[in-house]
Amino acid sequence: MKMPSDFLWGGAVAAHQVEGAWQEGGKGVSIADVMQAASRTDPARIVTDKVEPGKVYPNHWGIDFYHHYKDDIQLFKQLGMKAFRISIAWTRIYPNGDETTPNEAGLAYYEDMFNTLRANGIEPIVTLSHFEMPYKLVQEYGGWRNRELIDMFVRFATTCFQRFHKQVRYWMTFNEIDNQSDWRFDHHLLQDSGLQLKPGENAEEAMFQASHNELVASAKAVLAARKIDPQLQVGGMLAMVPIYPLTAKPEDQMFAMRAMQYRYFWGDVHCLGQYPAWLRNYWQEKGYNIKVTAADADILRRGTADFMGISYYMSFTTEARKDGKVEFDEHNNLVNNPYLPKSDWGWQIDPVGLRWMLNWTQDRWHKPIMIVENGFGAYDKLEDGKIHDDYRIDYLRAHIAEMEKAVVIDGVDLIGYMMWSPIDLISASTGEMAKRYGLIYVDQDDKGQGSGKRLLKDSYFWYQKLIASRGTEL
Ligand code: BG6
Repeated sequence: MKMPSDFLWGGAVAAHQVEGAWQEGGKGVSIADVMQAASRTDPARIVTDKVEPGKVYPNHWGIDFYHHYKDDIQLFKQLGMKAFRISIAWTRIYPNGDETTPNEAGLAYYEDMFNTLRANGIEPIVTLSHFEMPYKLVQEYGGWRNRELIDMFVRFATTCFQRFHKQVRYWMTFNEIDNQSDWRFDHHLLQDSGLQLKPGENAEEAMFQASHNELVASAKAVLAARKIDPQLQVGGMLAMVPIYPLTAKPEDQMFAMRAMQYRYFWGDVHCLGQYPAWLRNYWQEKGYNIKVTAADADILRRGTADFMGISYYMSFTTEARKDGKVEFDEHNNLVNNPYLPKSDWGWQIDPVGLRWMLNWTQDRWHKPIMIVENGFGAYDKLEDGKIHDDYRIDYLRAHIAEMEKAVVIDGVDLIGYMMWSPIDLISASTGEMAKRYGLIYVDQDDKGQGSGKRLLKDSYFWYQKLIASRGTEL
């Protein structure tokens, strides 16, 4: 189906997964800099108190985009990309997070990158916080459970809006802020909120307080952007994962619905400007004391998002708990969906779920939507200098076909599609290089060894044709 002529076809990355150069240009240490790679036996990334000699920290080298961006942008241009999503590493602008004067070298780096993108006809789309907050804010301030971070983040956001408002129109505040709904997994608490639990601390309560502080910071950033330049569009960003009930049994339906309400309350606050009643009741029932001031409530009401950025990779399926409890636990309450295959990393592949989720998002929040991530992590095999990644093309084709139905048939107001990712990068959840997403292959292994050479995969040529045909040559 033919997509609108102004539809933004593009690709997405995050700074910490591509840049490398972790100590260049005055950059400070971020949470990504102290994460080692996960392994097949221990699926969580180990986090150290400081960078320890001899340990493997894959984000230290990324794919060295910091030094290669000009050449890589040429490959994006030849691909036909109309937009490129990247994040600004907070630690390049405010190395520790608590400074009051920004680091000029960091600003100059992004300025040149955004100018290079624009000069090549590519619209930059920027996330402010994508799993890479300054580590000092974790260690010395306790992460987002501390309200002092609100002002620090708003200072960072304001600096970026002021400096880049002419080059960058679309912004997002916090990447996949809803991942921490899975607060039982430490990794999400750290990546989303910089939380390292204290002995005896209630993880769920800490997560709600940190989330509230982030939501206030996000709303304040929206208000700051409007003052600086009314053209700016500032969105929230959520990982959208439909949570289907396994059967038509009303208890399964109710359980799955509450799981969806729980995972997406961040979107309610971003878009509707207030907390849902069920959640306020839940806090009370649990005895949680979440500090939400009257001034906060006013900021949330006024600083609603201009659009919603979403990522989509998979769907979940669940059924009511046998013990009658309503809490959905991503580690114990997922069941197999017999209709769907899985990736090598166990992610359930569900293209129709993307159309379903786009409709659901629009019906619930009534905001323009941008797909800012969708892609397939797989092992690639290099054969005679070529990568025949039909499996990636199949994944993208099936998802884009459903996206097109959502736009053309269902009338979803969709601004663009940023596939994840135009180029191989370090996986966020595992730190692997072997879990490849790119249309462009990077000759580098999990230990950072390799020539770093870029090679075009079959999927590159497929996406190139698709963009040129405005989505008709699937
Ligand atoms: C999203 C993140 O969770 O999914 C990205 O925003 C991440 O940073 C992507 O890379 C794919 O996940 P992973 O863990 O396979 O890299």
